[in-house]
Amino acid sequence: MNRMWNPFANMAALAGNEITMVGGQGSTVVDSQGRSYLDAIASLWYCNIGYGRTELAEAAAAQMRELAAYHTFEFFSNPPAEALCRRIAEIAPVSDARVFLTPGGGSDAIDTAGKLARAYWRAVGQPAKQIIVSRSHAYHGMNAYGTSLGGIPMLTEAFAPLVGQVEHVAWDDAAALEKVIEQLDGQVAAFFCEPVIGAGGVYPPPPGYLAQVRDICRRREVLFVADEVITGFGRVGEWFASGRFSLDPDLMTTAKGLSSGYLPIGAVIASGRVAEPFWRAGTTEVFRHGYTYSGHPASAAVAHANLDLIEREQLIQRVAALESVLAEAVAPLASLELVSAVRAGTGLLAAVEIAEDARLADPTLAQRIVRAIRDRGVITRLLRGVALQISPPFVITEDEIGRIVEVFGEVLGG
Ligand SMILES: Cc1ncc(COP(=O)(O)O)c(C=O)c1O
Repeated sequence: MNRMWNPFANMAALAGNEITMVGGQGSTVVDSQGRSYLDAIASLWYCNIGYGRTELAEAAAAQMRELAAYHTFEFFSNPPAEALCRRIAEIAPVSDARVFLTPGGGSDAIDTAGKLARAYWRAVGQPAKQIIVSRSHAYHGMNAYGTSLGGIPMLTEAFAPLVGQVEHVAWDDAAALEKVIEQLDGQVAAFFCEPVIGAGGVYPPPPGYLAQVRDICRRREVLFVADEVITGFGRVGEWFASGRFSLDPDLMTTAKGLSSGYLPIGAVIASGRVAEPFWRAGTTEVFRHGYTYSGHPASAAVAHANLDLIEREQLIQRVAALESVLAEAVAPLASLELVSAVRAGTGLLAAVEIAEDARLADPTLAQRIVRAIRDRGVITRLLRGVALQISPPFVITEDEIGRIVEVFGEVLGG
């Protein structure tokens, strides 16, 4: 009997339908039946360098032979973690950056940033600033802060409020943010924002929106937190979306692309301003937060190898070049009857939305479409129950993009 309880799975429906992945190369993964799939989603938005990069395995093995792990609480540190923090601080568009490493995925980074935002205001003598604002369609992971901040109701409604003092605004309405901050006069700690909404359905920012909300946060003394768990480390054709959109965030959350998922690791990047009360000479302020595996040396070594590879193969330039290729390839899908919208044009990110009337008329339609696409050898998934995700590895070829779109077209047009 299968004993594995899968995330986000109806375990009754899963029985006998498991897809057991055993290998991968480039943009292709292979299951235990020997079937190959073109992975249009880079697993969960993370396998940016593609599969089968053995040099990352070598980096992990070399580090594990030296020192597999040692904790980094209080005084302790290790060379790969120290060097990784220096490296991230150099490439991140965050002024005077300090880097807090997190051990798992983006959810750890989000909880760390939420706690740090609140701790910061207490440390600077403004303890009333505790409310965190996020947006509709937002996805900030599944730990307590992320679940509470999430703007996808089906992912939050089964749970009691986990973190209090959270407000939501419409994802595309800068004036709504300003209004909430004004109404909650002096109580808002931070605004969490994915520069490009990912799991909520791939929504690139409306023109001018990010500059407006950034400006509102600055004027109103609210920390601007860029959640770059998907967009960080190259997916939008620059190292970070914060660079592309000149966000100058107070805090930035990252994970996935930092290691391309070869080992779990994340990082919260704090600006000098947020760090100051905790770092200044003579301070008694301590950020009492951390995880057993924060700064794990093997994960840090793998992250270095991943960043080396991205630089050496110029994969971010490749994403920038493929941005319009992907956008132009998916655009014609919009004319299909089953498709109500196609969103693309910011890096290697796209979504194909399935028409609402068709979904309402047949509630199993969208999942059957995902299945039919998979049966033709392409993996996609459903975002927020409405849209098909496209976020391929950076190494995807133009022919492979063509194949993804061809299969989408066959299934959605047929
Ligand atoms: C923007 C964003 N933030 C946070 C998370 C949570 O990351 P994880 O699932 O790695 O914990 C995700 C995951 O997809 C994400 O897309």
